[in-house]
Amino acid sequence: MNKEEQYKSIVNFIDSYINNPPYYVNRDTVLAHVLNMLKTNFKYMDWVGVYLKKDAEDLLYLGMYLGSIGCDLIPFSKGVCGKCISTKETQLVPNVHLLPYHIACSSSTNSEIVTFFKFKDGKQGVLDIDSDEFDSFDEIDKKYLEEISSKFINF
Ligand code: SME
Repeated sequence: MNKEEQYKSIVNFIDSYINNPPYYVNRDTVLAHVLNMLKTNFKYMDWVGVYLKKDAEDLLYLGMYLGSIGCDLIPFSKGVCGKCISTKETQLVPNVHLLPYHIACSSSTNSEIVTFFKFKDGKQGVLDIDSDEFDSFDEIDKKYLEEISSKFINF
């Protein structure tokens, strides 16, 4: 499967849960599957996880993730994640070392992409993906990660 086909298989998986939700499935189940599929399908993704907005505070706290130990808290004013949650716009960063506000949870990270999402109950968050390679993410990643994130509103 090429990259687009791999992304489409994840999109189809999410759609099957949206269209035919098993009674036992909650948003954590879906999120766990999606994070796992991303990390397993795409070898350039070394850290895949979510940060969630703390209610009534401009802070993100660490949610579910796969990879090395993540930072616990990110203020809206800091980090690529902070930029994404405060602008609600995707942040595609080919070289994190060129961004003064980047937060290095892992010294091995060289590029990053972050997309905004909202769950059904209004809870906001970001999907954060780090790569140990430079320039790992392109417009295909952006398109499909935005599509995947936009589907979280169903859960
Ligand atoms: N690099 C992120 C911090 C989170 S870690 O990548 C897991 C940022 O600058 O917001």
